[in-house]
Amino acid sequence: MEQTLVIIKPDGVRRKLVGRIIQRFEEKNLTIKEMYQGVMTDKIAQEHYAHLKEKPFFPNLVAYMTSGPVVFLLLEGADAIPLVRQMLGATNVLQAVPGTIRGDFACSTTENLVHASDSPENAAIEIQRFFG
Ligand code: TYD
Repeated sequence: MEQTLVIIKPDGVRRKLVGRIIQRFEEKNLTIKEMYQGVMTDKIAQEHYAHLKEKPFFPNLVAYMTSGPVVFLLLEGADAIPLVRQMLGATNVLQAVPGTIRGDFACSTTENLVHASDSPENAAIEIQRFFG
């Protein structure tokens, strides 16, 4: 069993897609171990995306991630980390294929609805960051 950290980003909450996104994870038989809604602080958003801090889109990304409530999910299942990444779809909006969450709902690369851990190392760090 593997655990992964998912964030339904501010546009997911604003567009009232929380239920539909969570339903996909449940349909895939992933277990919701913990879940809460909250607003990310500037400091935490900068820490979470520290690997992108030199990118030109970084200020926009932090502003977006702190622009409203998000939903944090701790999901568990077999191969949960790669499985959930596959369910999210590609980062680039034009490469996210239909059938994935981003492919079906996202209209922008920045406002792309969902985050999920991309490796066991990052999952451990992100679970600690948001679930302590
Ligand atoms: P990244 O960690 O590369 O992708 P992912 O979210 O798929 O793990 O990027 C983090 C977020 O940064 C991404 O979800 C959206 C935003 N982003 C942009 O706004 N523009 C870009 O060109 C890229 C690569 C990412």
